[in-house]
Amino acid sequence: MFNHLILSAVVLCAFAHSAPVNVCKTGNVINKPVNNQPVYWPATWKENQSAPHLENGQSCSWIVTVPEGFYAKVIISGKVNDTQSFFQSIDSAGNVIKTTHENKEPYYFPSTKFTIIVSNQGPATFAFKIQWAPFPSKIDSSMKVGKNPQLVNITEEIFAAEYSSMTGISLLAFPSDLKKISTLRSSLVFEGKDFNGAYISNLYLLYKSKKQWISAGNSVYIVNLEAREVSDQLLIQESSYTKDIQEYVEFNCKINSTCLYKLESGKKGAVISTEYTTQTLWAVTLNVNEYLTVYYGSPNEEGRHFTISGATIQSNLPLTFRSSVTQYVVSGETASFTFQVSD
Ligand SMILES: *[C@@H]1O[C@H](CO)[C@@H](O)[C@H](O)[C@H]1NC(C)=O
Ligand SMILES: *[C@@H]1O[C@H](CO)[C@@H](O)[C@H](O)[C@H]1NC(C)=O
Ligand SMILES: *[C@@H]1O[C@H](CO)[C@@H](O)[C@H](O)[C@H]1NC(C)=O
Ligand SMILES: *[C@@H]1O[C@H](CO)[C@@H](O)[C@H](O)[C@H]1NC(C)=O
Repeated sequence: MFNHLILSAVVLCAFAHSAPVNVCKTGNVINKPVNNQPVYWPATWKENQSAPHLENGQSCSWIVTVPEGFYAKVIISGKVNDTQSFFQSIDSAGNVIKTTHENKEPYYFPSTKFTIIVSNQGPATFAFKIQWAPFPSKIDSSMKVGKNPQLVNITEEIFAAEYSSMTGISLLAFPSDLKKISTLRSSLVFEGKDFNGAYISNLYLLYKSKKQWISAGNSVYIVNLEAREVSDQLLIQESSYTKDIQEYVEFNCKINSTCLYKLESGKKGAVISTEYTTQTLWAVTLNVNEYLTVYYGSPNEEGRHFTISGATIQSNLPLTFRSSVTQYVVSGETASFTFQVSD
């Protein structure tokens, strides 16, 4: 009997040890340790382990400070299992990301602070790791953008540059894999000449907004903090040429396929491609009073390649275009385009 009790106690302890259930609270503050070591929550978790269980009904927050000149890389592992529960992060510019499942795909936060929140009702798992690092140095360059746009492989390598123009900068990100756009999270955008300027957002959130982003001032600083080894692209244009385009629809059509793109806002819009492929327009819906103008480069006189009216386009199909940056611009109404793409 006595032996039996001890055995049960041992079994219970072993079970409690292997499957701890964590509790947490709001308003925790985490600062960068002086020894630069990462901070884990819970402290015993490591990223090669599965996420531990979180007690039901938790509502917790961590305010994490980031010293000037540093950024924080965060991985979260966990899952909530009901519609009221969530994970959330808020960066220093107030951008919010809310999710229900995290699989250690990193987030990057600049100074001065960010917040991690977890709120769960039912069963959940949750853990995170925060690591601080200085911004990359000595790779900065300064580039002018004018009549011709610039196309940059933004996530392939560590990258930092300032871009300026006479009137402002327009940014559009093109993920290389639409199923894995989170690689764009390592690219941060600041107004001004360096990371001391106002932090705006990362390219993942700018891409998710489905709009071009336009700077308030004449220059922006763009930094990709880690090599992600994917060819996500960033198109950088002078904003005076693009600011009237209210709807940008990104071309993402594989070689040897046919794709339909629609402009539905009824305002000035464009289908835009940064793929150097042969694009054959087979079918179009375009109001007879409208015009399609195709630009090779930015939508300005320098880039203007071809203009055709809705009244004459049908009898001129198919039409073929090929450029590293191609913009199919319509001044208003709705329109649709069916392309076939070849090498
Ligand atoms: C997990 O990582 C730690 C170091 O962070 C290491 O000591 C441990 O052996 C690893 N465990 C496994 C199962 O890989
Ligand atoms: C998640 O919720 C469903 C429905 O409430 C329940 O059946 C399931 O067991 C839960 N899963 C976990 C891992 O708690
Ligand atoms: C981006 O990288 C790809 C693959 O490495 C390369 O083919 C392409 O030319 C690069 N584009 C630019 C704009 O540098
Ligand atoms: C596209 O089709 C051509 C002709 O059928 C073929 O030779 C080529 O390999 C294909 N390319 C791709 C990327 O599928």
